[in-house]
Amino acid sequence: MKVSIFGMGYVGVVSGACFAKDGHEVIGVDLSQTKVDLLNEGKSPIVEEGIAELVQEMVSCGRLSATLDATDAVLKTDVSCISVGTPSRENGSLDLHAIEMVSGQIGAVLKDKDKPHTIVVRSTLLPGTTRDLIVPALEKASGKVVGRDIHVCYNPEFLREGSSIRDFYDPPYTIIGQTGTEAGDAGAALYSGVEAPVHRVSIEVAEGIKYVCNCFHALKVGFANEIGVIMKSLGVDSYPVMKLVCEDTKLNISPAYLMPGYAFGGSCLPKDVRALVYAARTNDVDVPMLSALMPSNRIHTERAVKMVMDTGERDIAMIGLSFKAGTDDLRESPLVLLAKALIGNGCRLRIWDPEVVEAKLMGSNRDYIESAIPHIGELLSNDLNQVLDGAKVAVVGNGKGADIGLLQNWANDNVLIDLQRVSNDLRGSSSKYDGICW
Ligand SMILES: NC(=O)c1ccc[n+]([C@@H]2O[C@H](COP(=O)([O-])OP(=O)(O)OC[C@H]3O[C@@H](n4cnc5c(N)ncnc54)[C@H](O)[C@@H]3O)[C@@H](O)[C@H]2O)c1
Repeated sequence: MKVSIFGMGYVGVVSGACFAKDGHEVIGVDLSQTKVDLLNEGKSPIVEEGIAELVQEMVSCGRLSATLDATDAVLKTDVSCISVGTPSRENGSLDLHAIEMVSGQIGAVLKDKDKPHTIVVRSTLLPGTTRDLIVPALEKASGKVVGRDIHVCYNPEFLREGSSIRDFYDPPYTIIGQTGTEAGDAGAALYSGVEAPVHRVSIEVAEGIKYVCNCFHALKVGFANEIGVIMKSLGVDSYPVMKLVCEDTKLNISPAYLMPGYAFGGSCLPKDVRALVYAARTNDVDVPMLSALMPSNRIHTERAVKMVMDTGERDIAMIGLSFKAGTDDLRESPLVLLAKALIGNGCRLRIWDPEVVEAKLMGSNRDYIESAIPHIGELLSNDLNQVLDGAKVAVVGNGKGADIGLLQNWANDNVLIDLQRVSNDLRGSSSKYDGICW
């Protein structure tokens, strides 16, 4: 393919050189005369393992060149990648000046270009930016319609500085955010030389993934460091601890606990988080991230209460009460907190949880629920129809074993608030359906 790349920074130079190595003809575009001159002399404007040699090889074989001339670059290529910088402003927001400028420049050239052209956006952008900023800028400058005359896809960049050439050839996957197949095909074709699964998703999902990955990486670093200082304060070497934590690929380094849903609870997680944070405090160790876990969890339960109260309805069916599916344990169940808050706010509740009904509550479980919700027995039923009958809002907290078809039908006329995403069939089945975090 003939590819122009706007922005010859870390991303632009590495991907340009790698695309060229894979056989594409690449023209790099930048505002910096120095970078353009260096590239045309076969020298890399950035320092990166292996990049000096690769740039030199690709420039001398004629597959990589650079220019200041955006018009020439767009006219000579079929695909334009955008990898200009999106730096932080002082308040944390993104400076999109360069993105807007490049979109306008490319659009202005496309006004008079007859051949089809695809724009592959690679800069890191918050979800909605391609749709709300790049597409309008391209359409305004070109007078053409994106999706019909011009194609746009979003392809996030997962290179890490220091190992970016290796990362280019060994990515976890290639993500193509597309509105139409034609745009996505051109984006995916750039990676024909890379062996990795290609996932085609919406542009907004593709934009979001990059931020989520980076925030997750930052979260992991913060978590490991806070655990390190707590362990140190307790006289424990954090290395064997974290090595074994990482060895558990079932619950720790795995998708477990990573799908958005309702708050955590039960007899272990809240108790143990509180104890470790208390131990840190006792030893004068400041761990803001771990200290934020319980408040974050509480805010999530408050979010559920607000969703119900905002409906204005007061006859509520709760689907599930125990802290997770497959147990009758009610201790610190965030669904019990929800039920308590709703009753306190004047709601009339009926609760469906066959596991709790059948368990004949006893021991600490019974003491807990009786102190949290007196006369709970009167609210509970194992007949879903009976619980839904007369209710105006149903809250699915733990819908294991519930008749999804019944809930789906019911949601045609009544509000259904889903805290669990118990079934993808429920989502989108009615305009009265609302998920807590999707
Ligand atoms: N650096 C990384 O490792 C990395 C990894 C993944 C994603 N990203 C994202 O990729 C994007 C680029 O990052 P970077 O580190 O390569 O940026 P960078 O600052 O190193 O390079 C950006 C380049 O764009 C050029 N530029 C600005 N306006 C231009 C215009 N109108 N026309 C042509 N060139 C123009 C600048 O002169 C500069 O050379 C950012 O959104 C960043 O968040 C970076």
